[in-house]
Amino acid sequence: MAERPTPHLVVDADVLESNVARMAAFARQHGLALRPHAKTHKSPLVGRLQLAVGAVGLTVATVSEAEVFADGGAEDLFVAFPLWVDSAKGARLRDLAARVRLTIGVDSVEAVQALSAELPGVAVLVEVDCGHHRSGIDPEAAGAVGRAARDAGLDVLGAFTFPGHSYAPGAGSAVAREESDALRAAAASLSTQGIEPSVLSGGSTPSVANIDDDVATEVRPGVYVFGDAQQWELGSCFPEDIALTCAATVVSHAGRRVVLDAGSKVLGADRATYSTGFGRLLDHPDARIVLLSEHHAVLTWPDAPFPPLGSRLRVVPNHVCSAVNLADQLVIVRAGAGEETWPVAARGANT
Ligand SMILES: Cc1ncc(COP(=O)(O)O)c(C=O)c1O
Repeated sequence: MAERPTPHLVVDADVLESNVARMAAFARQHGLALRPHAKTHKSPLVGRLQLAVGAVGLTVATVSEAEVFADGGAEDLFVAFPLWVDSAKGARLRDLAARVRLTIGVDSVEAVQALSAELPGVAVLVEVDCGHHRSGIDPEAAGAVGRAARDAGLDVLGAFTFPGHSYAPGAGSAVAREESDALRAAAASLSTQGIEPSVLSGGSTPSVANIDDDVATEVRPGVYVFGDAQQWELGSCFPEDIALTCAATVVSHAGRRVVLDAGSKVLGADRATYSTGFGRLLDHPDARIVLLSEHHAVLTWPDAPFPPLGSRLRVVPNHVCSAVNLADQLVIVRAGAGEETWPVAARGANT
């Protein structure tokens, strides 16, 4: 049988399942609800694995991701995004709310009013900023937004935060402290308005291990499911925990370079300031991708001899969420069994 053409994304099912089980066990041991972010895999089949081992529900970033996961059988979805709900989004959210237990992020009184006009009574979590400075209000202001939401008839469950500044070398534990402080302050602020939060949700992949389980009730890691070169270089996963790689072929040795047929249209173009290249080679940790264009990855290769022309290598994308969003399907392999393909059903589901 002809080999599957490269480049394509391959998932080692055994590593995937072990990542899923390990995070579920961590959450259980710490008395935390696990609500993995599904934007990493965009696959209801992977979501089912997470739910099967005890995730309470899934996190999504967009209404269209929520629609794909609801179609795929998910019953409890949190849209962890400060949605701006107009009448068109309102209609889609009403349809979703009839099918799943739905929670939505809010971070302003205006968004609360727009949401309550379209979706009376829906559950919300107030988003607070723990130092990442993306969306989310000061934790001390959570009470004001929570009160507005309650007065508008929404069901205020508590607060959430995203510690995205954990994506820096050595930042994990300090950022986890900032996250806990923010959630604690948000809970106090809600409580001054008579709202006792039942959900205080945090957790990114680099910070989750250090989360304060006396404060947080829930974690939402996403990338842990596959791992990637960023997590490897941050030390939040080991190379053996990396479940997803891109199969790529050596197509050129021109100029004494090793060139692969996987470029930014497959691997994604993310390169964090701390990244040592545009991705890593799972089986050759000393090689580096020093140049990436749309269809080429150019490697430095310290160990002689070069991998032969036509040989296949396993590339670890820097940021797996971006790579998955570029693929129609994932090739699932399991030791001793044949290949399957799983669709990336929520690919491009960005609205
Ligand atoms: C709101 C929110 N929650 C959770 C996550 C998951 O964190 P990670 O990607 O570090 O696993 C993200 C990731 O972007 C996010 O934006």
